[in-house]
Amino acid sequence: LDPLTIGRLRGRLAVIGLGPGAAELMVPAVKAELARANDVLGYETYVRMAGPFRADQVMHCTDNREEMQRARHAFALAAQGRSVVVVSSGDPGVFAMAAAVLEALHESTDPAWHNVDLEILPGVSASLATAAQAGAPLGHDFCVLSLSDNLKPWDIIEKRLDLASQADLALAFYNPISRSRPWQLGRALEIVARHRTAQTPVVLGRDIGRPGQTLRVTTLGQLTPDQVDMRTMVLVGSSTTCVFARPGGGDWVYTPRWYGEKPTS
Ligand SMILES: C[S@@+](CC[C@H](N)C(=O)[O-])C[C@H]1O[C@@H](n2cnc3c(N)ncnc32)[C@H](O)[C@@H]1O
Repeated sequence: LDPLTIGRLRGRLAVIGLGPGAAELMVPAVKAELARANDVLGYETYVRMAGPFRADQVMHCTDNREEMQRARHAFALAAQGRSVVVVSSGDPGVFAMAAAVLEALHESTDPAWHNVDLEILPGVSASLATAAQAGAPLGHDFCVLSLSDNLKPWDIIEKRLDLASQADLALAFYNPISRSRPWQLGRALEIVARHRTAQTPVVLGRDIGRPGQTLRVTTLGQLTPDQVDMRTMVLVGSSTTCVFARPGGGDWVYTPRWYGEKPTS
């Protein structure tokens, strides 16, 4: 295509985060983007979560492992002048589609792809949605890790776990366990336990913001991998994380903003 035609056909590609699931936790800019979309691409569960769609909107559902193919398909559609949305759960920049879309663009020499009006729209990530329900366990410095060794070597994960635990950061584990990764969480907890006491608070948020959500507060000493599945967010407190009872049952969990001596005020 000549540059003039490319200019006229300028399509749009928005990579959006749906938030954890509940419609009220989806940011308004994402709702507006979904309303203007001609095409919506993503893992089927998330595309369905983003709907319902009008009859003129096309859904393209793919398997969870086909991120790069999906990203290239999205550019191919947008380069034809269409308004395209790629959906992720939570935030699209956190272990999700935004990086795959940018990787596809970086690798491409097609000027039509580089001319696409590309925007990444944020969402409430699962760690933040879970933390808010528990109180403020991530109220001080924290570290976000994916325990999946599908796209990175396990020894790097062990090193990061060890150093982050040693640095007394609160920890948020995404992708904590799956059928094809059954032992990794147990090993991760052993590494964390080298640097944290058995009383360290742990928050387990499952399907947060979705039907049937559960929130559980436990301790590092009591946590076993069978209490966790791939729909769970695991938040491990630091040495300063506190727990106290809520009036109606359950607990509040928070990590104070200060470290060392409590400031006087
Ligand atoms: C591939 S990551 C995607 C993260 C997503 N982009 C985000 O920002 O929340 C998937 C992992 O996120 C966590 N997760 C996603 N949605 C969740 C929810 N509603 N409740 C609890 N954990 C969730 C689980 O640990 C799951 O294995």
